[in-house]
Amino acid sequence: MSEGPGRVLNSSWLQNEALGPLTSFGVPARARYFTHLEQEDELPILLAQADHNDLPVLILGGGSNMLFTDDFPGLVIQIALRGISVRAESGANDWVLVNAAAGENWHSLVEYCLNNNLPGLENLALIPGSTGAAPVQNIGAYGVELADVLHSVRYFDRRNQQVHQISADECQLSYRDSIFKHALKDHAVILSVCLRLSRHTRPRLSYPALQQALANNPQPGARDVFDAVCAIRRSKLPDPRVLGNAGSFFRNPLVTVAKWQLLRQTWPDLPAYETDVPDMRKLPAAWLIEHAGWKGARAGDAGVHTQQALVLVNHGQATGRQILALAQNVARSVKERFDITLEPEVNILPANAWQGW
Ligand code: EPU
Repeated sequence: MSEGPGRVLNSSWLQNEALGPLTSFGVPARARYFTHLEQEDELPILLAQADHNDLPVLILGGGSNMLFTDDFPGLVIQIALRGISVRAESGANDWVLVNAAAGENWHSLVEYCLNNNLPGLENLALIPGSTGAAPVQNIGAYGVELADVLHSVRYFDRRNQQVHQISADECQLSYRDSIFKHALKDHAVILSVCLRLSRHTRPRLSYPALQQALANNPQPGARDVFDAVCAIRRSKLPDPRVLGNAGSFFRNPLVTVAKWQLLRQTWPDLPAYETDVPDMRKLPAAWLIEHAGWKGARAGDAGVHTQQALVLVNHGQATGRQILALAQNVARSVKERFDITLEPEVNILPANAWQGW
């Protein structure tokens, strides 16, 4: 493959590759060039080739949190690094370190740990996507988040071409957020993730829906929690292989207690969750969207899911722009009705596509 005099590109790159099948939304988009990364040491070469040809680079994991609203004009590198290894933490007989390459499917890693008697990840079962994407947004569900089990992350820094390892603390994980969305945004390519698990971890049952599901089980084990989480998710969240979606489209917004109490005067049923900050509450965006009248709504093939109002879906032929337009209309309604700004949790490309309310 070559393009113009002196512009020789890598012969293994695919041209004009369809990205729809590589993302869980399944909307049509194409990459000008596309390749897989199967060996870590190929990364600097690929990046140098892209640089040499003035091609922007997009790193793609499992594609489960991404909405393309346009074609990508550069090189898309899908991370296909594989491998899981387990070792005891030195000096501590209770803790086990699990290293997983960034391209491993997250749910497969959860199953691997469960099958090897390493509890701790079962609340995070069935989260779509790759292991390398997990720290970027500090994935979380049913009362557990990655921050509870993360030991460290290895990444390649595109600025100095070095591999670095940073601790969980240095990842600055918070609600659906990390250093990889800020100081290391566009600089880090995550290569592997190390988890710190214990064989003695007790089930985490704080989440109300999980408590209800296990109410008849006096001593649930990790497998019971895993099964319950899978059942809850399957009942509420659409399977992307059947109905395109990227899970929660928006983050749950944080508001002051005063603001929440003001809203409760009009909507006494509005739920709120405590946060690490005493005078802030997290409100369920799903509730706000439902009470702004959007649950089950549809604009062409772009829709709001009938079971979970926080999930936008592709009923078949929706384009990224149609999903984006729907999302913006939803956000505008929520702003008008509740004076709350919804921020997308999904990565929308190109980066300037989202115009908030
Ligand atoms: N609710 C509604 N209408 C709905 C759905 C929910 O009013 O259509 C209200 C209910 O009051 C419910 C509350 O919203 O109690 C919370 O709903 P749910 O338990 O389904 O969780 P969520 O806040 O909508 C978050 C995560 C999910 C995660 C679940 C379970 C975010 C942005 N989303 O959703 O993560 O699976 O909790 O822990 O924090 C994802 O990030 O893609 C994702 C699916």
